[in-house]
Amino acid sequence: MCGIVGITGDKQVADILVEGLRRLEYRGYDSAGIAVVDGGLHVIKREGKLSALEAALSQQVVPGTCGIAHTRWATHGAPNTINSHPHTDHDGDVAIVHNGIIENYKVLKTQLESQGHTFISETDSEVLAHLIGHHYHGCLETAVRKVMGLVEGTYGIAVIHRNEPHTIVGARKGSPLVVGVGDGCNYLASDVAAILGETRQVIYLDDGEIVTLTPEGVKTTTVDNIEVDKEIQEISWDLDQIQKGGFQHFMLKEIHEQPETIRDAYRGRILLDTGDVKLAGLRLTDWELRNVRRIIILACGTSWHAALLGEYLIEEYARIPVEVEYASEFRYRSPVIEPGTLCLTISQSGETIDTLEAMREAKRRGAKVLGLTNVVGSTIARETDGGIYIHAGPEIGVASTKAFTSQVTILILLTIMLARRNSMSSERGMRLLAELEKIPAKIAGILEQSDAILEIAKMYKDHSNFLYLGRGYNFPIALEGALKLKEISYIHAEGYPAAEMKHGPIALIDPDMPVVVICTRDGSYQKIKGNVQEVKARNGKIISIVTEDETEIADMSDHVIRIPAAPDMLTPLLAVVPLQLLAYHIAVLRGADVDQPRNLAKSVTVE
Ligand code: G6P
Repeated sequence: MCGIVGITGDKQVADILVEGLRRLEYRGYDSAGIAVVDGGLHVIKREGKLSALEAALSQQVVPGTCGIAHTRWATHGAPNTINSHPHTDHDGDVAIVHNGIIENYKVLKTQLESQGHTFISETDSEVLAHLIGHHYHGCLETAVRKVMGLVEGTYGIAVIHRNEPHTIVGARKGSPLVVGVGDGCNYLASDVAAILGETRQVIYLDDGEIVTLTPEGVKTTTVDNIEVDKEIQEISWDLDQIQKGGFQHFMLKEIHEQPETIRDAYRGRILLDTGDVKLAGLRLTDWELRNVRRIIILACGTSWHAALLGEYLIEEYARIPVEVEYASEFRYRSPVIEPGTLCLTISQSGETIDTLEAMREAKRRGAKVLGLTNVVGSTIARETDGGIYIHAGPEIGVASTKAFTSQVTILILLTIMLARRNSMSSERGMRLLAELEKIPAKIAGILEQSDAILEIAKMYKDHSNFLYLGRGYNFPIALEGALKLKEISYIHAEGYPAAEMKHGPIALIDPDMPVVVICTRDGSYQKIKGNVQEVKARNGKIISIVTEDETEIADMSDHVIRIPAAPDMLTPLLAVVPLQLLAYHIAVLRGADVDQPRNLAKSVTVE
């Protein structure tokens, strides 16, 4: 995720800004830059790691006691130097750094262009710089306040102006900002980690607040210019704790980020009043969309599980035939690609070599190829004809969690979009999208059961084998639950379609075999009850994931984890969360290295 640092005070700031950015490196980024005000504005930015920025700074003196800095995780536009922050306005008087997404930036950009503004980057953030410059009439705080009333979307920003060489103005809506209170020096950051080396006295900004920092003080006001009396808090955590947001591991932090990351995946893409979905990055015309004859989805690992769910979703709702392929198999087996075939590539990193090569093979054979990735500017994102970013932010834990639920969210959107062009009514689309909006709060409720899941984990941490069963939409979730457990705890685990259990795995069931069954109240509910009985009859230990008011399967189970009800197509987003937590707790109890499991890599760039 992008990171912001700002400092105004009585010392030279360039090196301190870079040091602040270094403390934000753990968040992931693909370019970095600083702007310092000293008579004029000095802006230095570089694509790539901080070392590239430092090398540039070592070639020149950047004097000044007030400045802002940024590490960028690309969302709009490729990760290159021009798109990196800080961005400046038309006259080069204003510099801003921005976290978040400005949803109405295209409209604002067009208006500014008609008034003579020219833009050099592909970012939404540059529009903010121009707008602030446009509305500046001698007071930076007033200009920022004015612009807050014009933009839609999310932001945490830090802004400086050539004419106010000791002032930083910050504003927040949906993207965190924290003020550090120092002695003769004040700080602004997106994350306390950035300023911990300088001060432990902080003020957390709330949405809709504007903060004005000078070396002498900090003033917080509302968007309506009413002064707010903010409490100064003392930070007692150390840096490592802060980078993990107070969680013990990045994986646990990422599991807990899911209400937010799912919201980020659908934000700005759903039209609640018509039941439609907008996925502009696909670059497909209406005609092309209506004429998709077949879809092939290519992926590996967890992304393959999302792909399988995509097959179930698209076939049921959009009635288009879908095949899901392991990318490593597809690329070597001379696949048949007919006219009208759309090839969808799913990869969190956008760099997995098998997925990339499979995508190239599909392209060579004439398919239109689309990408569903998290990393902007990744190879798959660049080489596909169009695509959708999942906007999950950097995923640091090797075992994928939040990227999976974001991929599934996008596949749900894609399904509704395709179905609306075929047979789904506007009313049905509206109902499903309204239910999708309830998912983040429902996940937050499931996360509160973490301690109860820990108690189950304590009972099963020493078992050597697990079986995960599911039917319908819950079958890919069974596969994903089993994969999570084996990846991080090194316990052997198999995911199976529940009825298929009779054709083999049933031989394994005895009182020592924990069987995790995902049996929510959906189309396959009646059928899976019989499969649970088969496990029970052989004295297997049943851990069930059921819908909140369920009793029959709960009565047969040794342990029950309840999740809220949701339409069938959305249930997987809920059902996977307790399985992530179960795997996590078991792995921690076994003393495993959860974030860096043995032998695994986050991004597999070799065959
Ligand atoms: C590795 C990672 C998995 C991931 C898979 C595919 O195996 O450990 O977590 O699911 O690669 O990665 P991708 O970036 O293509 O989604």
